[in-house]
Amino acid sequence: MTATVVLAAGDGKRMHSALPKVLHPLLEKPMLAYVLAALKEAGLGQPLVVVGRRGDAVEQAFAGQATFARQDPPQGTGDALRVALRHLPADGRLLVISGDTPLWRSRTLLDFISAVSAEGSGLVSAELTDPGGYGRIVRKGQDFVGVVEERDASDEERQIKEVNAGLYLLQVKLVRSLIGELDSKNAQGELYLTDLLGLMAKAGPFTTFRLEDPAEMSGVNDRRQLAAANALLRQRIIDHWLDHGVSVLDPVSTWIGSDVQLAEDVVIGPGVRIFGQSRVGGGSRIGAATELFDAKIGADVHIRQSVVEDSEIGDRVKIGPFSHLRPGCVVESDVEIGNFAELKNTRIGSGSKAHHHCYLGDSEIGRKVNIGAGAITVNYDGKVKHRTVIADGAFIGCNANLIAPLVIGEGAYVAAGSTVTQEVPAQSLAVARERQRNIEGWARRRAGSHKEE
Ligand code: UD1
Ligand code: CA
Repeated sequence: MTATVVLAAGDGKRMHSALPKVLHPLLEKPMLAYVLAALKEAGLGQPLVVVGRRGDAVEQAFAGQATFARQDPPQGTGDALRVALRHLPADGRLLVISGDTPLWRSRTLLDFISAVSAEGSGLVSAELTDPGGYGRIVRKGQDFVGVVEERDASDEERQIKEVNAGLYLLQVKLVRSLIGELDSKNAQGELYLTDLLGLMAKAGPFTTFRLEDPAEMSGVNDRRQLAAANALLRQRIIDHWLDHGVSVLDPVSTWIGSDVQLAEDVVIGPGVRIFGQSRVGGGSRIGAATELFDAKIGADVHIRQSVVEDSEIGDRVKIGPFSHLRPGCVVESDVEIGNFAELKNTRIGSGSKAHHHCYLGDSEIGRKVNIGAGAITVNYDGKVKHRTVIADGAFIGCNANLIAPLVIGEGAYVAAGSTVTQEVPAQSLAVARERQRNIEGWARRRAGSHKEE
């Protein structure tokens, strides 16, 4: 049985932030989420996450996905492991991973675990051209001797390019017997987990597992590294979709979250951002600068420069440019939602059109309805939101105010400029506006009176 501990209690001082480091986002998701996802994908059981001074926020964000231990104050990675031991079984194996290394692939975790013998312990190392900041792997000949932290390293040790990736597989029994030997006589005055590794190598079999792709171990200690990790993850996800039938026209400016699903022949324009549990169906074109959050988009949809949040869009729908679909919308197939339209919590039936400048909120709109330019559902009376129901085939003229609660019957017409407050029966016309009167000669008389002044 392999238990898992995630170290996430460090103060993250180098981030200069009120937010705990592991909650800083990569592609709109906290960095710790990637670590937990990789562990889950590798089939490891629920991890124990060691959290620190501002652990409440971390516990809240990941409630149900892990158990938690509190290390307060944090006194180093060795101290964090000591805290974790109190919550772990007496023996067995323990995978230790850091909450600030979000790029591990589950495949690599599994390869590492199987590379370490059942009775042994081990670590992952990588060869870096610029090893700056990482602990260095010290060897005698081929044999692993220990890890020395950069700040404690001699000039000679700093030349070592092989670094400690911060991923360990440890025999719990051995950790229990050796952890008392750690001390804080080092540059940071902390208990280093890394000091334990040399001791473990002396006491039993110890494997160093060399990483093929050093990008996977990228640690996030400051905001430069956060940006760098974000860029790596972004590119990794885009490469995946490029290999799976998606055209990404400008990879450099495109952001796609790790949980997004895209079908073949989706085309993504420049500056697009797609996040959350969004899905896009085959052949859909997501035009430049569009943002999708938790959006379920059907097939052959065309969206231009628009924002869709937590909504479902059917097949062959056209949206935009410049539309905003706020949460709770269901747009059926073949709908056209045009320029500067805003929809919220609204269902709109197939074949309906809302081409220009409208607000449709808290409404139920049937099939083949035509919503004229500037039509507004007046859904809010300052206290309560009310619903508007517009039945199939209705025609809403330009600049109509539909004061909810309101029902517009099947095939009914609302005259342009009307402010409608009462139900409109099916097949009828509602006119609710001042009748026009023309005052003949008015302009001439006005001009004349000005002349006299
Ligand atoms: C650590 C390793 C270093 C390795 C690098 C890989 C030590 C002493 N050094 O350095 O050899 O190359 O990771 O990324 O372990 N943490 C706690 N409690 C604490 C201190 C830290 O839980 O008291 C957590 C942090 O939140 C972080 C992880 O442990 O997730 C690593 O700590 P950090 O301070 O980032 O260590 P590094 O300097 O990166
Ligand atoms: Ca780190």
